[in-house]
Amino acid sequence: MSKDTLSVTDNRTGKQYELKIENGCIRAMDLRQMKTDAEDFGIMAYDPAFQNTANTKSAITFIDGDKGILEYRGYPIDQLAEKSTHLETSYLLMNGELPTKAQLHEFTDKITHHTYVHENIKSFMDGFRYDAHPMSMLASTVAALSSFYPEAKQVRNKEVRRHQMTRLIAKMPTLAAFSYRHSQGLPYIYPNNDLPYAENFLTMVKSIGKPNWKAHPALVKALDVLFILHADHEQNCSTTSVRVVGSSEADPYSAVAAGITALYGPLHGGANEAVLRMLREIGDKKNVPEFIKKVKDKDGDKKLMGFGHRVYKNYDPRAKVIKKACDEVFEVTGKNPLLDIAVELERIALQDDYFVQRKLYPNVDFYSGLIYEAMGFPVDFFTCLFAIPRTVGWVCQYEEMINDNEQKIARPRQVFTGQRKRDYVAIDKR
Ligand code: SDX
Repeated sequence: MSKDTLSVTDNRTGKQYELKIENGCIRAMDLRQMKTDAEDFGIMAYDPAFQNTANTKSAITFIDGDKGILEYRGYPIDQLAEKSTHLETSYLLMNGELPTKAQLHEFTDKITHHTYVHENIKSFMDGFRYDAHPMSMLASTVAALSSFYPEAKQVRNKEVRRHQMTRLIAKMPTLAAFSYRHSQGLPYIYPNNDLPYAENFLTMVKSIGKPNWKAHPALVKALDVLFILHADHEQNCSTTSVRVVGSSEADPYSAVAAGITALYGPLHGGANEAVLRMLREIGDKKNVPEFIKKVKDKDGDKKLMGFGHRVYKNYDPRAKVIKKACDEVFEVTGKNPLLDIAVELERIALQDDYFVQRKLYPNVDFYSGLIYEAMGFPVDFFTCLFAIPRTVGWVCQYEEMINDNEQKIARPRQVFTGQRKRDYVAIDKR
């Protein structure tokens, strides 16, 4: 009968070891017993960028990269995108179950009544140059929020912690909208408690000079669907940053600010901005073959932005839903001319061996930027549109880490490759 163990022989000593296999993993700490002598530190696992390392157990989001499956608390993403709302999905992520009507009403009411930010935040925002990137402004103002709520440091007090989680989910749209208005030289629009989450955000961003301005319902619906799709994605770069910063018991605002800065990178959340710049650089369908050739020749480290994923080696299930949302948005806004270039890029890439062999498929960022541009958002605001919904994922993963008895302050090891034991040399002798 097979056993859930790994039999290992250390050929340096001839010793044999039995390592327990649990959840498809061995415990890296079980390697430390393998020593050549009493002085030996023991074997470590070397895994740059954690490509094959599970740093936590989690019950929030399940992904099967080979099958292109994504579930939030067991619910398939396409069902939630079709039938739920971002706030209902946020409740699900935070509590593990879909809310009853009364629970959803209470949760929505709590979020609605925390959308305002302290007036000092406006003067903080005004300190940025007019052309400051909104993600820099968002990361800084979220970090600054921890100075407005000193009680947030009580990270192990569930009631206090949940209050900060509610504040972050509620205020992120307001802060993002303020950063947009600042960069456009427009006055800030305050939240309207009569509007649902996505519509409130669109109104804070878009309304100018018309107090009764109303966002188009099709655009509100599309944005809410995009928020659902971006809410969480297990242990990605920004979530890992939130968990690592939070592991030192830093408050949720400081940890989420770290997540925002990680998301800012063009290989992560910044990819939706990079996709639009890439499509504009290509300029016309007829230039696609030449661009693909440059990518394959690794000309200037060119990548097909919006393609590829560390986990999905199949179509990102979110990309399929976003592509459908594109049609609904373009019915209202008119088709984005860059869509034809994107569709041609996808068509060619999906039949080209270079991409097929590397299992490179469109990811969540490939089509989302087209929708955001069609909605009239500037390209450098796209990653803020990712950070807003991902806030609920970050705070849920933060809380799961805080409550996990196996977790402690994150402190990886290293393989030292530098020089050792050198004596100081006086400057006139160097
Ligand atoms: C997100 O982790 C998450 O869950 C993130 C996210 C979330 O919801 O939080 O899903 C959101 O960040 C989506 C990814 C957005 N990023 C991009 O679209 C940027 C372009 N994609 C890549 O840079 C890349 O695909 C990554 C970063 C997404 C994944 O990179 P990996 O897993 O580290 O893969 P790799 O860099 O080792 O690539 C393997 C091979 C390499 O070629 P060879 O060295 O074998 O010759 O594939 C090539 C890479 O050069 N490759 C690409 C490519 N992505 C990988 N070649 C061209 N274009 C690309 N996009």
